[in-house]
Formats: sequence, structure tokens, C-alpha cells
Amino acid sequence: MYSPFVCCLGASLLLAHQVLAVAYSNYILAPSNRTLIPATVYQSFGSVSNPQNLCDSTDSTTTFDGNASVTYDFHNDIAGIVTLEVESALSVGAQLGITFAESSLWISNRSSDATADSGLDATLWFNVDTAGGKYTSVAAQGRGGFRYLTLVSNSTTSITLKSVSVNYTAAPTQDLQGYTGYFHCDDELINQIWYAGAYTVQLATIDPKYGNALALLVTWPPAAPSMYDDWYSNYTITNGTTALTDGGKRDRLVWAGDLSISLETAIVSTYDLHSVRNSLGALFVLQTADGRFPYASRPFPDQESFTYHLHTLINAANYYRYSADHAWLVSYWTQLEKGISWALGSVDDTSLANVSPSASSDWLRSGMGGHNIEANAMLYFVLQQGIHLATVVQDSASLAHWNSTAEHLKVAANALLWDETSGLYRDNETATLYPQDGNSWAVKANLTQSGSQRARISSGLRSRWGPFGAPAPEAGSSTISPFIGGFELQAHYLAGQGSTALDLIRRQWGFMLKDPRMTGSSFIEGFSTDGSLHYAPYTNDARVSHAHGWSTGPTSALVFYAAGIQVIEGGGATWIIAPQPGNLTSVDAGYTTLLGSFSVTFRCSERGGVYQSFAFTTPKKTSGTVRIPGATGVLVSSSGCRVPLVNGTASGLEGGTWILR
Ligand SMILES: *[C@@H]1O[C@H](CO)[C@@H](O)[C@H](O)[C@H]1NC(C)=O
Ligand SMILES: *[C@@H]1O[C@H](CO)[C@@H](O)[C@H](O)[C@H]1NC(C)=O
Ligand SMILES: *[C@@H]1O[C@H](CO)[C@@H](O)[C@H](O)[C@H]1NC(C)=O
Ligand SMILES: *[C@@H]1O[C@H](CO)[C@@H](O)[C@H](O)[C@H]1NC(C)=O
Ligand SMILES: *[C@@H]1O[C@H](CO)[C@@H](O)[C@H](O)[C@H]1NC(C)=O
Ligand SMILES: *[C@@H]1O[C@H](CO)[C@@H](O)[C@H](O)[C@H]1NC(C)=O
Ligand SMILES: *[C@@H]1O[C@H](CO)[C@@H](O)[C@H](O)[C@H]1NC(C)=O
Ligand SMILES: *[C@@H]1O[C@H](CO)[C@@H](O)[C@H](O)[C@H]1NC(C)=O
Ligand SMILES: *[C@@H]1O[C@H](CO)[C@@H](O)[C@H](O)[C@H]1NC(C)=O
Ligand SMILES: *[C@@H]1O[C@H](CO)[C@@H](O)[C@H](O)[C@H]1NC(C)=O
Ligand SMILES: *[C@@H]1O[C@H](CO)[C@@H](O)[C@H](O)[C@H]1NC(C)=O
Ligand SMILES: *[C@@H]1O[C@H](CO)[C@@H](O)[C@H](O)[C@H]1NC(C)=O
Repeated sequence: MYSPFVCCLGASLLLAHQVLAVAYSNYILAPSNRTLIPATVYQSFGSVSNPQNLCDSTDSTTTFDGNASVTYDFHNDIAGIVTLEVESALSVGAQLGITFAESSLWISNRSSDATADSGLDATLWFNVDTAGGKYTSVAAQGRGGFRYLTLVSNSTTSITLKSVSVNYTAAPTQDLQGYTGYFHCDDELINQIWYAGAYTVQLATIDPKYGNALALLVTWPPAAPSMYDDWYSNYTITNGTTALTDGGKRDRLVWAGDLSISLETAIVSTYDLHSVRNSLGALFVLQTADGRFPYASRPFPDQESFTYHLHTLINAANYYRYSADHAWLVSYWTQLEKGISWALGSVDDTSLANVSPSASSDWLRSGMGGHNIEANAMLYFVLQQGIHLATVVQDSASLAHWNSTAEHLKVAANALLWDETSGLYRDNETATLYPQDGNSWAVKANLTQSGSQRARISSGLRSRWGPFGAPAPEAGSSTISPFIGGFELQAHYLAGQGSTALDLIRRQWGFMLKDPRMTGSSFIEGFSTDGSLHYAPYTNDARVSHAHGWSTGPTSALVFYAAGIQVIEGGGATWIIAPQPGNLTSVDAGYTTLLGSFSVTFRCSERGGVYQSFAFTTPKKTSGTVRIPGATGVLVSSSGCRVPLVNGTASGLEGGTWILR
């Protein structure tokens, strides 16, 4: 539970915080009760009496007379196991079927949307007794993501139902509304996007006994799909009772790349480190003898991926940053060191990693090979994390080696891959393509050499936006990847372009939240530059996941950059407060680590920079730096310390509550 921080801005704000157990809990999309009933009737066919009776918990019934179907809308994407409570059926042999859809595009009384590469998922049928009874789907056929549930009767008889309910199974160990973080600003769309991102990651958090929805993909090549495929997810992907996977409906696997975004979303909303740790375990257990981490958790077939290998290392560093779990770091240090060595085995005499064709699997972009900029920026980032971790575990030999390798890599990447004319990095030295992933990562990793270079990348990426968001030309001519878009957001902030980041959130994630084909509560895996819900790497549009953790970049970016609350190390032992409001005029945000709560509250003018009020709180016995560009005045702590801002900056501050005067 979030415990309200001491707010020093005035009595009314203070009161607001004391009233709410969890700040802004009215925005939380996760249910308060794990037993859900439909919210409304979306449509019905055939003879059905009073279908809306199943949308309340009274005793009133609904009767299906002959072939008929009703589609119920839960208003949010949800996950779980369906129970039908039947009062009676008029004759023997009656059957009731259920189908699921995340998007309204795939509502059908013949099939669910898809988990396989082609085809659609088969209807689940229940044989209904004349005396009625309760019929519950088996746990392996809990559906990990759906907003619409269709009940279908396919017989001449009449069937009377007392209730339909869903036992909500996502985030199995969480107090679903017990968020430890919050974000609120003067822009309602941005607030809703923040909470939809947090909720999406809850949907992607599962009981690891019910992993892998790719029933046809466990062997390679996959079994040939039929028109209506049997589907189930019953593979135990890792130990423990909870794990953070890629998506609710699918794949229900641990993918290291996806975790690079979803881990940080979890940190700022639920602080569910337990799920993260179990997921990392699923990747570490598969490390090969020569140090390579897998593309994904079992049972996905083993494939080399240079970049996903790096993502595992990045996730390990982030897990340590937010948990300060020193015993964990020490126990995995040999594996981490070996993992970095494996990656450095690709560095050739140019000082850049030369990604071999066999290791080119990535987030389903193409052309990931050679001296690729994304791979090299990520490697540079990993080396910086490695240098920090090596300092912690006092591995001075690795530290020195990684430091000099990183230095040479940075020089070479800028010499060989920076294109001064376009103001962007090339995909590799022979490419004419300027990728979204590599340019975003170059800024994120600080592979760039100056602020003006970062600003050029930010404006170069921005100039390519279409009406629905930021394209990823490295994944075909019409792909929008909300995964790489998350890194682009970070790049705009790191380039000091807070308003650009907000504009992208409003444009792209606003579309993803508000378009009627979406769930209105969770974020889609990928789509097209023309706004169609086709994700180029897949042939089957019904397969796209509408609750994909990798699409939740705004949730952490708003907290880390717009509010500016950044943990540097030690679970928050050191921190930076560096807001970039863009054109937001008020921000109130915070999150909690094992050390306590971090929060920032401010009001400023529309153009940013002129703060009417500014206050923050960090836990006792921590220390940090404040950087508020353009602000002047004196920071005053609740214990009476006074520290003047010099050029908007003050460092060496101790934890506590501070107000700008
Ligand atoms: C949860 O919802 C179900 C179905 O509406 C209801 O029967 C039950 O009483 C609720 N539980 C709580 C604790 O409110
Ligand atoms: C199934 O849905 C179709 C429309 O997609 C409708 O024409 C048909 O009547 C429905 N059948 C049943 C049994 O509800
Ligand atoms: C109804 O059942 C028949 C026979 O099993 C099947 O061929 C048909 O596709 C079913 N219709 C629906 C809407 O499920
Ligand atoms: C129900 O639909 C099935 C085919 O889907 C058909 O064989 C059957 O005659 C229909 N029954 C009624 C009562 O319409
Ligand atoms: C919901 O499912 C969980 C996990 O299978 C189970 O432990 C729990 O008892 C179920 N709750 C209800 C109300 O059926
Ligand atoms: C999962 O369910 C399928 C279909 O019921 C079954 O064939 C398979 O053996 C199960 N796998 C596991 C690991 O339980
Ligand atoms: C689960 O635990 C067992 C026993 O400790 C271990 O052998 C196995 O490698 C673990 N699996 C994963 C995925 O962590
Ligand atoms: C270089 O980049 C281009 C554009 O992405 C790609 O087509 C080509 O395959 C890449 N070269 C290598 C060696 O991977
Ligand atoms: C890394 O190398 C640079 C330049 O050689 C040096 O200034 C710096 O102190 C080194 N950093 C560490 C952590 O050793
Ligand atoms: C980024 O790299 C530059 C050198 O190119 C260095 O001066 C600066 O401190 C680095 N920034 C961060 C945040 O590490
Ligand atoms: C911020 O800018 C966006 C457009 O870029 C605009 O829609 C919004 O109203 C602005 N907000 C404020 C408070 O000015
Ligand atoms: C003030 O900050 C700006 C931008 O961060 C920097 O360019 C400038 O050198 C700083 N001035 C002083 C006196 O530190």
C-alpha cells in the first residue's frame, strides 16, 4: 500500500492525499474484485430473452431459445476462467459455447481471436445437463486477454442461464489495486495512458504454470494450423507463483526485450519485483555454456539473438538498481560476466560488434546484422551498466576491460555510423536506412557525443511521424512499433525535448487507447502507419496481442522524466529529481521502493520552466541531486536546511521533504 507522503503545498492537497488509501485510485483499471460479471450487452443474435440480466448479480435469468448468441462487453481487457451457471436445458444434448475477443474486430460466435500464426481459436463447448449446473473452463483454457465474451447456443433446445462470471487470474499474487506508484497531471489523456500502461503490465503478469499460449509453436517448425485451432496454455515457464511475460493473450512467455520496457512499468506502478525475479530466472537457467542467454523462455525453440541477449543483461542491471538485492547480484555475477564476455566476442577490429547472421533475431525487425547501430548502442549501454555492477562486486579486471572497450566502441560508432547530413545514425555502414531503434538507443545509451547531436536525432525522428505515431522503418515500410516507440520517448526526454515526448504520447498512445477497435484499457503490440490493426511481422491480424507489456513506455517515461524521479542506485539510496514538464502545468507523481516513497509535486506555466510551486520527498538516509532547468530560488527541507539552486541545480541533498522557495 502506498502511504501518503507529507505534502507541503497547502492544506487542500494534503487532505486529498490523506483521504485516498492509494493516490488517484479512481484511475486504476484493475478490478477490485476477482469475480467479474459482464458490464453490458454488445450484441445478440437469435432468440435470447433478457440478455442484460447477466450483467447484474441479481437472480434474474436469460434464456437462449434455439440457435442464438450474445456478446458481452466487460469494458476493459480482462483475463480469467469463465463459469456458466445454468438453471436448466429443455432437452438432453444441449451445448453452450464461449468465444473471446480483445478487439471488437474479432468478435464472433464461431471462434475466438487467435494465438496461432494463422487461423482462429476454436470455440470452447460445454455439454449442458437438463438439470443445469455450474460449468467452468479448465485452468489451461483460462483466456489471458479479452474484452468481449460471446455465449453461443447451437441447438434446437432452450437453455436458461443464471449467471456468467470470470475468475480473474492476471497478476495472481498482487493486491490488484494496491499500487505503490501514481501519476497525475493536468492532461486527462496522459493520466489515462499512464494507468492503462500499468494495467497492461498487470495483464501480462501470470501464474507461470499457465504459460505459453503458442500451443502450435512448441516444436520447430510449428504444427500446421487448422481454421479453428485448439488452444491452451499450460506450460510451466518458470518456478514460483507469478511471472512477468510479454502479453496476456500471447505469447505468455518471458522475452527479455519486452521486459526492458515492462520491468520499469512494474517498478513505477506495483513494484512487483517478485514477478520480475522469477522471469529473469527463466532466462538465466537457459544460458549456454559459452555465455549466451536465450531469445525467450522455455518452451520457445532456442534461437540466438544478440540484442535479446543484451536485454537480459539490461534487465538484470535494472532489477538490481530497484531492488538493491546484493545477494542476488553476487549469486548471478559469474553468469552476468560470462554474458558480457559472450557479447564482446562479436567485437571486431573496427571496435564495433559485428552481429553474425545466426544471432540476428530481434524484435522482428529485419536487417539486424553487421555493425548494426541498435546492437552497438545497446552493447555500449550494457557496458556502462556492467561497469557500475563490477564496481559493486569489486571485479576490477572486468571493469577496466569494459571501460576501455566502451570508449573505443563509442568513438567507432560515431565515426562509422553517424550521418552528419541527415542528423541520424545509419543502420550499419552500408545502409541507407536510419532506424528508429538504433537512433533511440544511441541517445538512451549516451552513445551520442553532444547535446546538439541528441537534439538533431530527436527532431529527425519527430519529422517522420505520421498521424498515428512514430514509424519503425527497420521493420518494413508501414510498421508502428509501440515497443521501439517507448525507447523513442526516452530519447526525446534525454534530448531535453519534453514537449516532443508528450506530443508522441498523445498522438500514438492516445490513438492506441481511444480508437474503438482497441480495448480502451490496454496497449496493442503493434499496428500500421495507416492506423490499420495489421502488424507487419505477422500474417494473422487476429493474433496481435492487445495487452502487450512492451507497449507501455509512457508509464515509466512520465515518472522518470516528466515528473523527473530517477533512482540511480541502491534501490533509491541515490537519486536525481529532474523534471521536464513540457507543456504540462501540474504534475503529482511518485513511486515506492524498499527504502520508501519518492514523490514530486509541482505547478508551472504552460511553456514550462517557470515554476509556481515545487516540492519533492525522498526517503530518509538517501541522497541525491536536483536539476530544475530554469528554476531559481532556495530549496528548504522540512528539517530547516536551506540549499540555493545554482543554475537550477543542487547536489548532495539528503532524503526528506524539500520545497522550492
Ligand atoms: C465480488 O463480485 C461478485 C460478483 O458480483 C460478488 O458475488 C461478490 O460478493 C463480490 N465480492 C466482494 C468481496 O465484494
Ligand atoms: C452468429 O453471428 C452471425 C453474424 O456474425 C449471425 O448472422 C448469426 O445469426 C449468429 N449465429 C448465432 C447462432 O448466433
Ligand atoms: C453448430 O454445430 C454444428 C454441428 O456440430 C457445426 O457444424 C456448426 O459449425 C456449429 N455452429 C456454430 C455457430 O458453432
Ligand atoms: C442451428 O444451426 C445449425 C447449423 O449451425 C443447423 O443445423 C440447425 O438446423 C439450426 N437450428 C435451428 C433451430 O435453427
Ligand atoms: C479462481 O481461480 C483461482 C486459481 O485457479 C482459484 O484458486 C480460486 O479459488 C478461484 N476462485 C473462485 C471464486 O472460483
Ligand atoms: C497441455 O494441454 C494439452 C491439451 O489438453 C495436453 O495435450 C498437454 O499434454 C498439456 N501439457 C502439459 C504440459 O500439461
Ligand atoms: C526451478 O527450480 C528447479 C529446482 O531448484 C531448478 O532445477 C530449475 O532450473 C528451476 N527452473 C527455472 C526456470 O528457474
Ligand atoms: C545493413 O542494414 C540494411 C538496412 O537495414 C540491411 O538491409 C542489411 O542487411 C544490413 N547489413 C547486414 C550485414 O546485416
Ligand atoms: C574509464 O576510462 C576513462 C578514460 O580512460 C577514465 O577517465 C575513467 O576513469 C575510467 N572509468 C572507470 C570507472 O575506470
Ligand atoms: C555522456 O557521454 C559524455 C561524453 O561523450 C560524458 O561527458 C557524459 O558525462 C555522459 N553522460 C552521462 C549521463 O553519462
Ligand atoms: C499542450 O500541447 C498540446 C498539443 O501539443 C495541446 O493539445 C494541449 O492543450 C497543451 N496543454 C496545455 C496545458 O497547454
Ligand atoms: C548552466 O547550465 C547550462 C545548461 O545545463 C550550461 O550550459 C551552463 O554551462 C551552466 N552554467 C553554469 C555557470 O554552470
